[in-house]
Amino acid sequence: MAAVEIKKGLAGVVVDYTAISKVNPDTNSLLYRGYPVQELAAKCSFEEVAYLLWNGELPTKEELAEFTARERAGRALDPVVKTVIDALPTTAHPMDVCRTAASVLGARHELAEVSTPEANMKKAIDLWAAMPAVVAYDQRRRRADGEAIEPVAPRDDLGYSANFLWMTFGEDPVEEVVKAFNVSMILYAEHSFNASTFTARVVTSTLSDLHSAVTAAIGALKGPLHGGANEAVMHTFEEIGIRTEESLEDAAARAKTWMEQALAQKKKVMGFGHRVYKHGDSRVPTMKAALDKMIAHFGRPEILGLYNGLEQAMDEAKAIKPNLDYPAGPTYHLMGFDTPTFTPLFVASRITGWTAHVMEQLGSNSLIRPLSEYNGVDERHLP
Ligand SMILES: CC(C)(COP(=O)(O)OP(=O)(O)OC[C@H]1O[C@@H](n2cnc3c(N)ncnc32)[C@H](O)[C@@H]1OP(=O)(O)O)[C@@H](O)C(=O)NCCC(=O)NCCS
Repeated sequence: MAAVEIKKGLAGVVVDYTAISKVNPDTNSLLYRGYPVQELAAKCSFEEVAYLLWNGELPTKEELAEFTARERAGRALDPVVKTVIDALPTTAHPMDVCRTAASVLGARHELAEVSTPEANMKKAIDLWAAMPAVVAYDQRRRRADGEAIEPVAPRDDLGYSANFLWMTFGEDPVEEVVKAFNVSMILYAEHSFNASTFTARVVTSTLSDLHSAVTAAIGALKGPLHGGANEAVMHTFEEIGIRTEESLEDAAARAKTWMEQALAQKKKVMGFGHRVYKHGDSRVPTMKAALDKMIAHFGRPEILGLYNGLEQAMDEAKAIKPNLDYPAGPTYHLMGFDTPTFTPLFVASRITGWTAHVMEQLGSNSLIRPLSEYNGVDERHLP
């Protein structure tokens, strides 16, 4: 029998077309619907980018006004979702809370069993609008440590990013922080056939519904080889030790030593490496610039020291470059998010990309069902 070539992890396999984003590892570039993500991050709101991903074009002024009004109308935490979240233990990971909330929102959606393009667009916008309240409330209830609390009501006068920060912290968000957060939401929004997006497409290919696809995608994103890496980066920083009074140089030296030891022990260090980019992640320079602004804003040079020390040591030892999760983790930390909330922030953003792929998959669907090569025991029979 001819040997079958196994494409472990589907590495290098092209399984379909997509018109949503283009990842080019040779030029380290990423385009959303043709636009470089750096330009979008510099000039657009996350609302404009969400509209672009779903509709293929940036909105006109009128379209944006109607779109943002729809998003603002869907921000409040559904009381049933709140009751379900309250029933979950705070030992559950916040990604489990997101996954459960997406599922509950699906079961309660007025168009639950309708999958027309119009219904799916409505479901996508509704879910995108609803998720910040889930993430924000979950962090607040964990901090309340068992005390019953009410969610912070959304504010109509704030854009998506500013309102997200408002609902999480209950304080007027600072312009500089809002900008950095907006950049992170745009950079996390879409990245072609990554593991969670592919998961969403597999679920959609069975003609299941949009919320099922997103719920499954959240499960895929949770893993540390994928979205969970932004949390893992912070665990690394914490393991090395964050010393707020430390100089940049001292922090960098400690981080370098830590990395050298970790690599000597053949550890995989989260936040580095990428399946597609082998010479650097196209999104990192933009996110790093946002991190630098947060470091300056909050006056935390030791964070930059840890960042530089790990990056340099990894580069010297293995020439492996950071991925988006590497600058995103410490950025969210400085903003005040608890580490387990980082991947849920990624969820809130990536809902746009996932659902754009759900709609694209349905537009020219074919059941996704690969083959496997059997390598178990030979045929045998019961005595
Ligand atoms: C993202 C990732 C899964 C891509 O993996 P991949 O394309 O399958 O590449 P591999 O895991 O086979 O890595 C190739 C080599 O680089 C090494 N490597 C890759 N990422 C590494 C990392 N983060 N730390 C240490 N070594 C790493 C591997 O050990 C392997 O070395 P070897 O050939 O000596 O065995 C991998 O880089 C990784 O696990 N990174 C950490 C998790 C992370 O940050 N994920 C977020 C991605 S956006």
